Amino acid sequence: MLKRTLTCGDLRAADDGRQVTLNGWAYRRRDHGNIIFIDLRDRYGVTQVVITQDAAEAYAAAEKVRSEFVLAVRGTVRLRPAGMENPGLDTGDVEVVVSELVVENAAKPLPFEIRDDVEANEYTRLKYRYLDLRRPRLQENIILRHRSVKLMRDYMDEHGFLEIETPILTKSTPEGARDYLVPSRVHPGKFYALPQSPQQFKQLLMVAGFDRYFQIARCFRDEDLRADRQPEFTQLDVEMSFVDQEDVIDLISGLCRQQVAELTAAAAPSLPFPRLTYAEAMDRYGSDKPDIRFGLELQNLGDLLSDTGVGFLKAALAAGNQVKALRGPGLATLSGQKLRERVKAYEEVVRIYGAKGLAWLDFPADGESAPKSPIAKFFNTDELAAIAERCQAEPGDVVFIVADTGKVVAAALGELRLRIARDQDLIAPGQFAFLWVVDFPLVDWNEDENRWDAMHHPFTSPKPEDIDRMESDPASVRANAYDIVLNGVELGGGSIRIHQRDVQERMFKLLGHSPEATALKFGHMLDAFEFGTPPHGGIALGIDRFIMLLASEQSIREVVAFPKNQQAVEPMTGTPDVVDTAQLDMLGIRLVSIEKKETP
Ligand code: AMO
Repeated sequence: MLKRTLTCGDLRAADDGRQVTLNGWAYRRRDHGNIIFIDLRDRYGVTQVVITQDAAEAYAAAEKVRSEFVLAVRGTVRLRPAGMENPGLDTGDVEVVVSELVVENAAKPLPFEIRDDVEANEYTRLKYRYLDLRRPRLQENIILRHRSVKLMRDYMDEHGFLEIETPILTKSTPEGARDYLVPSRVHPGKFYALPQSPQQFKQLLMVAGFDRYFQIARCFRDEDLRADRQPEFTQLDVEMSFVDQEDVIDLISGLCRQQVAELTAAAAPSLPFPRLTYAEAMDRYGSDKPDIRFGLELQNLGDLLSDTGVGFLKAALAAGNQVKALRGPGLATLSGQKLRERVKAYEEVVRIYGAKGLAWLDFPADGESAPKSPIAKFFNTDELAAIAERCQAEPGDVVFIVADTGKVVAAALGELRLRIARDQDLIAPGQFAFLWVVDFPLVDWNEDENRWDAMHHPFTSPKPEDIDRMESDPASVRANAYDIVLNGVELGGGSIRIHQRDVQERMFKLLGHSPEATALKFGHMLDAFEFGTPPHGGIALGIDRFIMLLASEQSIREVVAFPKNQQAVEPMTGTPDVVDTAQLDMLGIRLVSIEKKETP
């Protein structure tokens, strides 16, 4: 083969006159009758090559070239004629006049064009992912991912951490999702679980004395998929001994700052990152992962409406419920019809989160016309003025009100807040707004199962000052747990761990595990806590999510080379798939019923 002497991204004006050989894909081809231009592409860039009839053999070959043929060309670099330069390309000052052209491999007509504004649906893109991955944007994302992970590894190494691998075939670690199970052939009827995270192993590495551990760890969780969730994903997993929360926060803040500074065009975010307690975040933003790139905080109206004549609000307050409001900037300037449509859409949003209704008050832009809101007339003027002041509503704004339990109000208005920010274009691009959320509750009441669930995971330690209330008032116990949030996405979470057997046993008891079940599932952890376990804590960052945000993408599927789709299917290889009966026999497995699900 004709081996390249340079890549398609290398040539500059200074290379004028050089003899070069390039390898790459025919990105675009323009045939002008007696001269053919081909943009030759590889992952480093694009170079224009020119084939004329002076090189008769090359010309004959070039006539047959179609999109995505793999070519090798030999030729001479020359400056493009004045006015024909392409400032959009690094190599745009030059072109290569071809003397020899070899078609290394042809390509059939493509299922979709290789370009960034591709219109193919996701199924087709994933079925031909190797073509999809040729798109410059995806190439940039994958290259960014490499650089990001390399930077993480170097950062952790510089801070004295050791990278240690932990098992993939293991026992279930509860992180709140279902496990992927792998049947054992050698032990029929027994199963390995794929790790939802390396949580227990990294803690056991602390017991072993490794002191500072990290891993670029693959995790597996069988849960409902969303734009920021994959069934298998990657964490920067970290654990440290003899530390408190501040040590973990400092380490990870520094790492995040460096990622933004080195990998994006944005300025390095300043340290320390802002911090909110869980209670403050829920109160002000209705979310434990608030997007702080814009204001629109939720406002409590309870104290303003204690004597209100508005029936449903009076009833809500009397029942001990919350009444909270959210400003919709500029919405009162919409026409009557548009505003009604908007309100209807917003009612749908809050209903999904359990709110029974959405009240709204408009403050007309001219400051004097009558409000369009049907309930405005039930409020007295003082109330309207007080609400406007509390919400900092100006003429032209709408204020939305939800009255319900604290949980419903937070979820409904928290989500509506994000929706309004999107609709009203309140988020300037190019920002990286990190935030630490601390002091999470230790446990959360699970209505459906009638039990307490660990808010983070069962190895998270209660705050020492709250530990006495673990049995008497579990809801009031705060954990030494923290999340890092970036632009409203939960980027990572961690905690200081329990390291005493008795506290760990109390925690399992609180979560409703019998001593027998605890011994069976977690005996190894409890045992280890009796052999000199250092105080320790850690965190895990979602790497896919981090790269998604660094790359300004909307879905983690855009930064994973071979992702699964929303139905947990990988269309290219056709995974998951049936297996031979012989394989099942070997594992001692018989399928009893298979519900046929539609393929997308
Ligand atoms: P947690 O469960 O909070 O903590 O996970 C840490 C981070 O991993 C990312 N993440 C995901 N990313 C993509 N797809 C998913 N399905 C998915 N699930 C989680 C998120 C999340 O913040 N063992 C603990 C960490 C610790 O305590 O040290 C853990 O796994 O960005």
